Amino acid sequence: MKKILLPLSMVCLLLVVCFTVINCKADQPNVSMIATPTPERPAGQTDVLQLAVEPIPTVRIAFIGLGMRGPGAVSRMTHIDGVEIVALCDVVEENVKMANEILADRGFPKAQEFYGDTEVFRQVTALPNVDLVYVATDWLHHAKVGIQALKDGKHVAIEVPSAMNLDEIWELINLAEEKRLHCIPLENCCYDFFELTTLNMVQQGVLGEILHGEGAYIHGLERFWDKYWKNDSDSLGWRMDYNMRHRGDLYPTHGIGPVCQALNIHRGDKMNFLVSVDTKAVGNLEYVKGKTGEYPENFRNGDHTSTLIRTEKGKSILIEHNVTSPRPYSRMYQLTGTKGFANKYPIEGYALDLGEIDAEITADYENLNAHSFVPKKLREQLMQKYKHPIVKDIEEDAKTVGGHGGMDFVMDYRLIYCLQRGLPMDMDVYDLAEWCCLIPLTEMSLDNNSSPVEIPDFTRGAWNKLNGLKFAQ
Ligand SMILES: NC(=O)c1ccc[n+]([C@@H]2O[C@H](COP(=O)([O-])OP(=O)(O)OC[C@H]3O[C@@H](n4cnc5c(N)ncnc54)[C@H](O)[C@@H]3O)[C@@H](O)[C@H]2O)c1
Repeated sequence: MKKILLPLSMVCLLLVVCFTVINCKADQPNVSMIATPTPERPAGQTDVLQLAVEPIPTVRIAFIGLGMRGPGAVSRMTHIDGVEIVALCDVVEENVKMANEILADRGFPKAQEFYGDTEVFRQVTALPNVDLVYVATDWLHHAKVGIQALKDGKHVAIEVPSAMNLDEIWELINLAEEKRLHCIPLENCCYDFFELTTLNMVQQGVLGEILHGEGAYIHGLERFWDKYWKNDSDSLGWRMDYNMRHRGDLYPTHGIGPVCQALNIHRGDKMNFLVSVDTKAVGNLEYVKGKTGEYPENFRNGDHTSTLIRTEKGKSILIEHNVTSPRPYSRMYQLTGTKGFANKYPIEGYALDLGEIDAEITADYENLNAHSFVPKKLREQLMQKYKHPIVKDIEEDAKTVGGHGGMDFVMDYRLIYCLQRGLPMDMDVYDLAEWCCLIPLTEMSLDNNSSPVEIPDFTRGAWNKLNGLKFAQ
């Protein structure tokens, strides 16, 4: 009898162990989480948190990528003092010539021109008279150009998403750390007026502790698909092509950037893991059928992708991606705090506990509580009071020059402002990494039945070194 009982108890024990491993919580290290290894930091290298370099009083810029997006940046830079635009580069000659016309119209000297193929950018990053390389190519060339620019000793600012996979991300981080150069994402949505004001309210404790944030890129791109650069004659255009080949959230940075700033990611907290779920693909298939005459067989990107993230300090984030459904534009931007709530889309509003709003502003209002949005007039008073210091002096200029209502100008202005004064940038290479890593990691989760995927600590141990996000003044 003893002989039978012993093996039986062993089998039971084994079953209990297996059950525990499979069911243990996903935010603890266990076999059910997909690991994403962190490469060791090369010897002699340190992090670039709060990196400050020698001031560059006149910033000499080279632009690479002058399709729909790039020329707007060229134009905006001509409205900022202490900038020289020294080189313009695109595969397509006509795009370069048109960008040079912008300079001529604005009374600027013409810049050196580079065009012809996808490798010509290497002549530009090698130029000795360039301080900053500003990249607005298609997604597949963003990191390639960024890596070469850093190798050639230039600061680099890259349109979003700035890198598409973990290899590119780690190479950008390693080069920025080795060369002590800035490498930032051009995430303009962090500079929209509602987001900046709300960030200021968060940093002053008006919403209490932020527990949950939501962000999205919900934007039907039908009218743009035909206009993207076609990397070869058979191509549907680079962006649809990328959607065809990849599942996951392919454009996460507009949604996640402002939320990560409010949650102090890598400035006191870090994202630990994500889980993604997508729908089947429907909308984009119709576009492809319209172009090619047949439905594609293996279109990878679902119409709607939702991603949930949990942080080390017990916060959660929801990020959504949808570029095809008939829906109003939305970046969502919601923050849920212990004392209040902020919401940008579809209507801007704040809901706050009465005690948290200054008495002189609330005196005229009765029965205020966080179960409904504050009245419009009070919202406007709050937005005035908590206007972010970095926009106070430039709001009018930003709205005049424009670029998505002014936020693009604020972004460019801050980039140049910090370079000219030798200040740390508002966004750094770790922001770039954290926001862009959603692209490969959501795909990994989806291809593994929505398994949790570990989000690396891109600072390699320094995520708790800084005490919150501060924009240098
Ligand atoms: N932040 C925002 O609000 C925002 C808005 C629009 C676009 N974007 C981003 O800007 C980037 C460009 O988008 P777009 O709409 O202008 O696309 P686009 O297809 O109109 O332009 C891309 C341009 O890059 C050029 N190009 C490609 N490879 C190149 C290379 N190796 N060297 C030089 N030039 C090269 C192409 O010739 C083309 O002119 C994308 O990454 C996109 O996601 C960001």
